[in-house]
Amino acid sequence: MERSVVEARAAAPDTHVLSYLYPVPTLGFVPINAFVIQAQEPVLVDTGHVAARDEYMAALSKVVDLGELRWIWLTHTDPDHVGNLLAVMAAAPNARLITTFLGLGKLSLMGIRTERVLLLNPGQVLDIGDRLLSALRPPTYDAPETTALFDEKTRSLFSADSFGTVLAEPVVDAAALTPEQLHANMLLWSAIDSPWLEHVDMQRWSACLDAVRALAPDTVLSSHAPPASGITETLLANLADAVGQPPYRGPDQAAMEALMSTVPPSEAGMHGQAHPR
Ligand SMILES: [Fe+2]
Ligand SMILES: [Fe+2]
Repeated sequence: MERSVVEARAAAPDTHVLSYLYPVPTLGFVPINAFVIQAQEPVLVDTGHVAARDEYMAALSKVVDLGELRWIWLTHTDPDHVGNLLAVMAAAPNARLITTFLGLGKLSLMGIRTERVLLLNPGQVLDIGDRLLSALRPPTYDAPETTALFDEKTRSLFSADSFGTVLAEPVVDAAALTPEQLHANMLLWSAIDSPWLEHVDMQRWSACLDAVRALAPDTVLSSHAPPASGITETLLANLADAVGQPPYRGPDQAAMEALMSTVPPSEAGMHGQAHPR
């Protein structure tokens, strides 16, 4: 397969996804998504990863005038979400960064100067002119500053790492996966991203999922899954089954070296990684 590039596609009303399928040995592909909300005050949700900067900036420029971009909503500060933050902030001088106090602290520790920041906590709301965006903590996450958002106008839930899935094959719409594939691969992703799920009480977990159910999103836009419209109940049922499973355990050094030795250099993926298949 050719090296993936960032592609911009419509994902929901007023919403584009900028998607990159990141090949990971033994797993397949992990989608790395950012989103643009074409609101009265345009919003970018996350900034991709640095290795795909040129593609990311080109795709972003196609779907939004960077001079008009008003908000950069960072769901959290992992490298797959902040990779092009500085480039975007430089190219979008009227955009203000949304994060939490913890997110701001982590950015500072990375040496990122953080003027132009708005601190917003789960439970708070941002008015972007023609709609409100509600900040919330998603059910699963891998960083304490994680803040998802719900667009009440389009009923889209931007769920950060939550509701993610590993992909065995490149897929651009969750509807292309069988229910069995989606179930198995969401459980695998959840065990990778939220290893604490083995300690979670099922009753409390159900209440947590009910909070998402109460929002009744039409579309779930995970940072790590193809856009998923009209299957929110299926996604919630899959996350319900993710509780109690043991954390993901990746290959150790010996297993990784054995894996790499089976892959000709010409078939190696990004950064010398073995291609997943
Ligand atoms: Fe993350
Ligand atoms: Fe992530």
